[in-house]
Parts: sequence; structure tokens; C-alpha cells
Amino acid sequence: MRISALFPMACAIVAFILGMLMLFAGHKPGFMEDYHILTLNTSTLGHNLIPNTTTSGSSPTSTSSSIGSFFSSLAHNVTSTIEGDLDGIIDDVADKLAKEIGIKQWYSLHLMDLCEGTYTPNATEKGANLNVSTCSNQTAMYHFDITSVLNQELEVGPLHINLSDIDWPSDIQKGLNDLNAGLDATFVLYAIGIATAGCAIIASLAALFLNGSRLISFGNWGLATLSFLAFLVASIIVTVVQKKATHVINKYGNEIGVYAYKGVKYLTLTWVSVAVMALAAIAWVVEFCIGKRNRGREYTEKTSHRTGWRHRRSDEAQLRRSGV
Ligand SMILES: *[C@@H]1O[C@H](CO)[C@@H](O)[C@H](O)[C@H]1NC(C)=O
Ligand SMILES: *[C@@H]1O[C@H](CO)[C@@H](O)[C@H](O)[C@H]1NC(C)=O
Ligand SMILES: *[C@@H]1O[C@H](CO)[C@@H](O)[C@H](O)[C@H]1NC(C)=O
Ligand SMILES: *[C@@H]1O[C@H](CO)[C@@H](O)[C@H](O)[C@H]1NC(C)=O
Ligand SMILES: *[C@@H]1O[C@H](CO)[C@@H](O)[C@H](O)[C@H]1NC(C)=O
Ligand SMILES: *[C@@H]1O[C@H](CO)[C@@H](O)[C@H](O)[C@H]1NC(C)=O
Repeated sequence: MRISALFPMACAIVAFILGMLMLFAGHKPGFMEDYHILTLNTSTLGHNLIPNTTTSGSSPTSTSSSIGSFFSSLAHNVTSTIEGDLDGIIDDVADKLAKEIGIKQWYSLHLMDLCEGTYTPNATEKGANLNVSTCSNQTAMYHFDITSVLNQELEVGPLHINLSDIDWPSDIQKGLNDLNAGLDATFVLYAIGIATAGCAIIASLAALFLNGSRLISFGNWGLATLSFLAFLVASIIVTVVQKKATHVINKYGNEIGVYAYKGVKYLTLTWVSVAVMALAAIAWVVEFCIGKRNRGREYTEKTSHRTGWRHRRSDEAQLRRSGV
């Protein structure tokens, strides 16, 4: 039994579980919804549809021109009904607008799907909870296409409008499309990280029971390092994608009432997995060095049985060599 193999084994088990969670967080409604890559707050999306917007406070200046383009794009008798519908919610835009135009209050991106829902108790409450309504079907390499999701929901919504009616900037989806390759790579890297962490668990079991083979230590170190690198690169990509996606959405979207937030919990999870695999790799380097030294000592002890009086001297030499 080599008890010291237990520590890197524990690290590999933790990384394996975290990797699984990062792949599957949010894969069905309500499962680790907080661990999203990012969320979009769409509770005030389309506030520029409302005549004389005084609430929401986000950008009263932009509304007059948007209303103009919106009204001109619709037939007259449709317009009047919308105006009538939306007039009633001016006091409570943030909490009612989304429902009024047929979309959800938030959309969250996970690695394999997109979830959506409403804020509880309401959208203006600080730190409101996410009440999940549905999630898209999970796919191995999900492509974040918020534009078509919103457009479809608006078209089937009560007002039968579409994104061009609320001046949705095409720059948002253009910016997001550039990031989808990064998300695909992340998926593959997590899969590699999980697979190698799984192999590392088995290999450290071997190290636990087969005493002190340096080859096993070396193999373990290799697996731990590979897993560490996969998680490291994946985490870097996730960090960059989060930063760029929230930036592009907030840059073009704030004006029309959509806000993006980074998923801090997901980021924490992915960097913790990097840290534990780093610890595992370091532990195997230490193990390798200690194993080397022990083997040297075992050898001198064996020879000392035969050579009797040289015992002490070789032992001292051994200690001196190892710098004690
Ligand atoms: C206005 O609505 C009425 C029914 O409510 C419909 O018959 C008419 O065609 C509509 N006009 C236009 C221009 O859409
Ligand atoms: C939102 O919920 C909080 C807590 O329940 C409440 O104090 C607040 O008045 C609500 N806001 C609106 C606009 O309903
Ligand atoms: C969503 O965005 C609106 C508009 O900026 C804001 O008033 C509201 O507090 C936000 N809700 C949450 C839960 O962040
Ligand atoms: C979540 O939303 C559903 C409707 O979509 C509602 O019936 C339910 O009460 C909400 N849950 C909470 C905790 O507010
Ligand atoms: C999701 O999957 C179910 C069955 O697995 C299928 O019936 C449904 O059409 C799918 N939905 C979408 C949007 O692909
Ligand atoms: C939105 O609807 C208008 C007509 O109502 C149409 O001309 C336009 O192409 C539509 N835009 C999208 C993105 O579907």
C-alpha cells in the first residue's frame, strides 16, 4: 500500500466530478441552473415599443426614433391594439413587458443547451431567483443562437412582432457567432479532461496497491498533467468567451433593454478543477522524487546485511547525498 497515492487520487476524483458537472449543468430544467456560462436579462427588452417610456430608466433618448420605425413597420390597426396593450404596463415595465410581447425574462447559456424562464419574486428584485420554464434539447456542441430563439418567440407571441420591430442590432449575433467555435473547443477539452482524470483515478489505484514503481508514478504524472492542461485551456476559453459575449451583448443590447451577466459560479467551478488537477500533478512529481530516494535507501539496507560494518557508513553517505 502506498498511502501517499491517496491524495492525487482524491484530486482526480474531484476534478472528474467537477468536469461532469460543468458538462451537464443546466442540461435539464432546474439542474444547477445557477451554473450557467452567462445569462441575458431580457425583462425590459422592447421597452422602446412603449410610447412615452418614462420607466426602466435605461435610455429614454433612444425611444422616440425607435417608436417611429416600429410604428411605420406595422399596419395601422395593429398598431393601435399594441399601443393599447402596452399602455397598461407603463408602471411596471420590467416585470410585465416580457410576458406582454411573448418572451421570457431571462435566457441562460449552458455548455449543451439554452434555458429560459422568469425571475421570482419579480424582475426588479435585487438577487431574484431564476425560475426555469424550459430548456432547449441538449446537443453535444450547442450553438448559442439567441437571435433566432427570440425572433421565434416574438413571432408566435401575442403581438406577432419580430426582432426588427424592436431594432435588435445584428451585431449581437455576429459577435456571438465568432465565439461558438470556442464553446465547441471547450466541450471537447472538458471531455478530454474528464477522460484523463478518469484514467488517472484508475492509475492511482494501481499506484496504491503496486508498491513504488517509478513507471507507474511517471504514468500517473503524465495523466494528471494532461488532464490539468485540458481543464486549463478550457477554462481560459470559457473566461474569454464570457468576457467577450457579455461585452458584445451589453454594448449593443443595453439600449434596447437586454443585459448580459457572467456566470460567476461556473467560472469558479472550472478554475477549481484546474487547481485540483495541478495539485495532483505536483503530488506525483513529489511522489516520484521520494520514491527515487527510498529506493536508494532500500538498496543500501539490503547490501548492508552482507557487509555488516559498512552499514552505518553507507547509511550516512545516503543521508549526506540526499542533503539531510
Ligand atoms: C384591420 O382589422 C380588420 C379586422 O379587425 C381587418 O378586417 C382589416 O383588414 C385590417 N386592416 C389592415 C390594413 O390590416
Ligand atoms: C418585487 O418583489 C419584492 C419582494 O417581494 C417587493 O418588495 C417589490 O415591491 C416587488 N416589486 C414589484 C415592482 O412588484
Ligand atoms: C433586469 O434588468 C432590468 C433593467 O435593467 C433591471 O431593472 C432588473 O433589476 C434586472 N433584473 C435582475 C434580476 O437582474
Ligand atoms: C415559476 O413559474 C411558474 C410559471 O411559469 C409559476 O407557476 C411558479 O409559481 C413559479 N415558481 C416560483 C417559485 O415562483
Ligand atoms: C427535442 O426532442 C424531442 C424528443 O427527444 C423532440 O420531440 C423535439 O422535437 C425536440 N425539440 C427540438 C426543438 O428539437
Ligand atoms: C419582420 O417582419 C417584417 C414584416 O412584418 C419583415 O419584413 C422582416 O423581414 C421580418 N424580420 C425578420 C428578422 O424576420
